[in-house]
Amino acid sequence: MRDWITRGFRAIYERVLRREISGAPSHVAIIQDGNRRYAQEHGAEAKDGHEAGAETTERVLEWCAQLGIEELTIYAFSTENFDRPAEEREHLFDLLAEKLYEFADSDRVHEDEVNIRVLGQTNRMPERVQKAIDYAQRHTAGYDSLTLNVAIAYGGRAALLDVTRDVAADVDAGALEPESVDVETIESRLYHGAMRKVDLIVRTGGDERTSNFLPWYANGNEAAVFFCTPYWPEFSKVDFLRAIRTYEAREASWRQTRAQRALALVRALGDEVQGRRVLDRLGETLPDDEPVAEETDSPAD
Ligand code: FPP
Ligand code: MG
Repeated sequence: MRDWITRGFRAIYERVLRREISGAPSHVAIIQDGNRRYAQEHGAEAKDGHEAGAETTERVLEWCAQLGIEELTIYAFSTENFDRPAEEREHLFDLLAEKLYEFADSDRVHEDEVNIRVLGQTNRMPERVQKAIDYAQRHTAGYDSLTLNVAIAYGGRAALLDVTRDVAADVDAGALEPESVDVETIESRLYHGAMRKVDLIVRTGGDERTSNFLPWYANGNEAAVFFCTPYWPEFSKVDFLRAIRTYEAREASWRQTRAQRALALVRALGDEVQGRRVLDRLGETLPDDEPVAEETDSPAD
């Protein structure tokens, strides 16, 4: 009875949230934390927590397709995770391989045209994981409706270091002029080339850190961040919609701040024509009858 009431409330809340949300972020990145703590609270082993977590990942992928999100990046195995006990590590390798095959063969992935890409120092992974990566990427390579990036053996600083070494080697070999190094040079060398800028980072499990995740694409883009307490296996659609609402609220207040700053700037210039030009260049508009430059009393009066 109690479960039934909770489910009813959840469904209503989900509908309310859906109505409040007008658009979706293009790229969501998720730090799926709290799997072992979930297992511990349920008297289970770490591997059970990670398996339950992988089911949440599948559900989230479906929600992304429903909401029109174009790119989802999940943190599946960090460079720091290599330091975990061998038994847990081996189980995670098995789980990653199993899920990559399962995703690549799933009807839903093909119906939703999901392109699976893996980013990270994948050469550090055991052969069975490398084969699964290759399989998943090859079997979904033709799709572009939704991109699923799986970060494996990934660390943000490691990624930037790898690019720096690559650029330095090309400069050293005379294949690249230092002055010609620009944003494209870096992005084309980050794992799998360019991706969309991250609009929203979600972290479950209660820790309020972004853990070295996608620094180039998230920090550079001032991504919104949503921290929440549910462990990853418990993460629900309501939590996901709340995260998206946070992103939208942040976007709206950011737009307003930009418009106010632009207005303050042109008012300081005190010139109507010039002011409208500056606003145009900043991509902001004002109604024709609203003066850009504030009217001041003539000192002669
Ligand atoms: C962090 O939780 C999560 C991981 C180390 C691995 C997460 C991987 C999956 C859920 C598999 C998904 C992959 C695919 C391809 C579907 P934790 O172990 O740090 O848990 P804790 O914070 O409670 O210690
Ligand atoms: Mg953790």
